[in-house]
Amino acid sequence: MTKQYNRRSFLRTTSIAGAAVGLNAASYSRVVGANSRLRIASVGTGGKGWSDLNGVAASPDVQVVALCDIDSSAEHLGRAAEKYQSASRYADWRKLLDESRNVDGVLVSTPDFMHAPISLAAMHLGKHVFCQKPLAHSVHEVRQMQRAAAKYKLVTQMCNQIQSHTAYRTAVHWVHEGKIGKVKEVHSWQGGSPSWPRNIQRPSGSDPVPESVRWDLWQGVAEERPYKANLYHPFQWRGWQAYGTGQLGDFGCHIMDPVFKSLGLTSPTRLTAEAPPLLPETWTNRAMVEYEFPGTDLTAGSTLKLTWYDAVGARPPREKLAQVPDDYQLPGAGSVLVGEQGSLVIPHVAMPRLFPEDRFPAAEQETIDGVNHYTQWADACRGNGETTSHFDYAGPLTETVLLGTIGIRFPDQELHWDAKTLKVTNHPDAQKWITKKYRKGWEPAWV
Ligand SMILES: NC(=O)c1ccc[n+]([C@@H]2O[C@H](COP(=O)([O-])OP(=O)(O)OC[C@H]3O[C@@H](n4cnc5c(N)ncnc54)[C@H](O)[C@@H]3O)[C@@H](O)[C@H]2O)c1
Repeated sequence: MTKQYNRRSFLRTTSIAGAAVGLNAASYSRVVGANSRLRIASVGTGGKGWSDLNGVAASPDVQVVALCDIDSSAEHLGRAAEKYQSASRYADWRKLLDESRNVDGVLVSTPDFMHAPISLAAMHLGKHVFCQKPLAHSVHEVRQMQRAAAKYKLVTQMCNQIQSHTAYRTAVHWVHEGKIGKVKEVHSWQGGSPSWPRNIQRPSGSDPVPESVRWDLWQGVAEERPYKANLYHPFQWRGWQAYGTGQLGDFGCHIMDPVFKSLGLTSPTRLTAEAPPLLPETWTNRAMVEYEFPGTDLTAGSTLKLTWYDAVGARPPREKLAQVPDDYQLPGAGSVLVGEQGSLVIPHVAMPRLFPEDRFPAAEQETIDGVNHYTQWADACRGNGETTSHFDYAGPLTETVLLGTIGIRFPDQELHWDAKTLKVTNHPDAQKWITKKYRKGWEPAWV
């Protein structure tokens, strides 16, 4: 799969008009000085992209120089263009990157299936990247993101921003302090009710494409299909396998993050999912995935079991939660770490709770202040400090989440994972989902 990046082949395969600029990361990459402004481009300026853009731009040392969105309407490109009037505007991220000589860093806030193609192209040009969660749409793409960041020595951050919130930082600190002792097992869940389509067949026919929308550009690397209103763009794409990663993909990188951070987990070695059969194109409306990870200094055994549950109203079985009292109302989403000396509940998103309560009086527990996940990246790009969800950290976390989505395709079948070789060693059919097919002319250049 290794293919040397070549600027001209990128232009040829992506059919962008205009001359090659002749840049590559080696010639372009530079350390942005601590005193200079960080010039950023934002791709996907509506939805979560709006808060990503404003979050990063909140640093006084950031200048927004380019904006890109396939939808020119007010709530997408329009609002951002109104606020950042001096920034160049684009519908096509490939054109933006072609003209990106003045760009130091790129924010990627598009739907999941475009994270890696855009981020990889930006990293090949030596741009620092701030990318939404989950990091990518396939395990292979995740590993490519890690490799590109390392190869070009770029500052990266995945936007699982709750990691920087006082709630998650405090939870991680308590585990590191050893409050609950070594951790025996973990339960993580999302019991919310998504508003996007799940478990449906694709409706026939098509709707007129709104004037503001570049449907061809929205589809990017995915196979082409007719436009349907309120089914894909905006926001609804999550439930479609071609574009999103379902409930586990939507929330796993948030909810499992403090578990990864506190215990120092790496990729799992095996997993088994329970889920109803998938329809051909959408994700299911419930799933459970049992993972086994190699143990760490903070786990009780040489392996650690983590169970993920998602369904409307889903919660882990009470009897598995050791010291968490039955009359404590579990949050709608979160994790419980069952330790040898206590249990820690990490709600998504509220301050964590330690049990049994008489051993851990709430008022006596030290809390850790939050930091700004967005400006942390901007600062690090200028050489001030480091990011905490850089791609080397976010990679194994996203890999875990995406392996779970592969498990959902093969319910009740144990999958054995070799992270080194990117192989599901016991299941050739599952292995096929480690990579994916790309629309002709849109194939990413690999590292
Ligand atoms: N970290 C969080 O808390 C959080 C919250 C919500 C969403 N997200 C993530 O943010 C990303 C976007 O989700 P959303 O809910 O905002 O989706 P959305 O569809 O509502 O918004 C995506 C925006 O990107 C634009 N866009 C789509 N494809 C594009 C392309 N190829 N080039 C340029 N612009 C493009 C759309 O027009 C829209 O403005 C997803 O990866 C999602 O998982 C993260």
